[in-house]
Amino acid sequence: MMQLDEIRALVAADLTAVDARIRGQLASDVALVSQVGEYIIGAGGKRLRPLLVVLAARAAGATGEGHIAAAALIEFIHTATLLHDDVVDDSSQRRGRDTANEMFGSPASVLVGDFLYSRAFQMMAALDSAAIIGVMADATNTIAAGEVLQLMNSHDPDTTEIRYLEVIDRKTARLFAAGARIAAIVAGAPPPIEEALERYGRHLGIAFQLVDDALDYRGDAATLGKNVGEDLAEGKPTLPLIHALGQARPEEAALIRTSIAEGGSDRHEAILAIVESTGGLDYTAELAATEADRALDALAGVPDSVYRDGLAALARFAVTRSA
Ligand code: IPE
Ligand code: IPE
Ligand code: MG
Ligand code: MG
Repeated sequence: MMQLDEIRALVAADLTAVDARIRGQLASDVALVSQVGEYIIGAGGKRLRPLLVVLAARAAGATGEGHIAAAALIEFIHTATLLHDDVVDDSSQRRGRDTANEMFGSPASVLVGDFLYSRAFQMMAALDSAAIIGVMADATNTIAAGEVLQLMNSHDPDTTEIRYLEVIDRKTARLFAAGARIAAIVAGAPPPIEEALERYGRHLGIAFQLVDDALDYRGDAATLGKNVGEDLAEGKPTLPLIHALGQARPEEAALIRTSIAEGGSDRHEAILAIVESTGGLDYTAELAATEADRALDALAGVPDSVYRDGLAALARFAVTRSA
């Protein structure tokens, strides 16, 4: 199986160009903007979304420069959502360092998040494509509503699997889908390829978030670069817990319900044991594998190339990753 570095090597020159574009677009005459922006961007992260965009663009036959800007602006939107998300989730670790809200405070994080968001739209405008602006306007609006939907599920033990899936589709998968779709648009690919890539991105994004939610229970904080156990502590009902609640014995179910309603980390050990014994993590992993298979199926609509192989490898990485 192709490792992440081997996938990156397929588009190494593009990724270098994307990195330069990201750095260049952080510039601002307001010192704190550049400082906070460079703090979070400089920490790196996996840069999966730009990788997805350049692979999808190359798979769709891109030759110009447009996909570099597309990849950079998708990473800006992603990073803006992380700045906001860490404030909302009151998180203290991200990309192996203290979060921006921990370092600079929540006001600076929220405002610089807005800066990155709007900078992404400036980059989009420069691409001079009404289709791209339409896709991105819809995606960002859907993400924002998804985060609000998640807020409404917070501390609600009656959150269902369907309501959870709606949240992850919106908050995570739509950005992957939009990235893959605008890659096809900058490449000038015909509608069937645009649709196939969008469908690929959507399923990949769902798989990615399912695995992320499983890793919050069984992952390693040092490897992930962010704290684990936060979803439970925040009373955020994700699939491992929702499934456990449906399978648990009455007294276990009561403990889970209290835990979701009240949050906190006191019950972490006990809940983790229930999540394990009821198969909540296995169930989540199986659903992620199904979604990754759907992403692979969608690639049948994309012409064969090493870049398409890279996209397939990315779908496999999403469900085998531990970081
Ligand atoms: C974190 O995304 C937020 C989720 C959608 C789970 P990533 O895991 O891609 O974050 P970075 O960019 O690598 O830090
Ligand atoms: C990530 O959500 C934020 C968005 C997708 C907008 P999470 O809260 O689940 O991700 P982490 O665990 O903080 O990275
Ligand atoms: Mg979070
Ligand atoms: Mg999470």
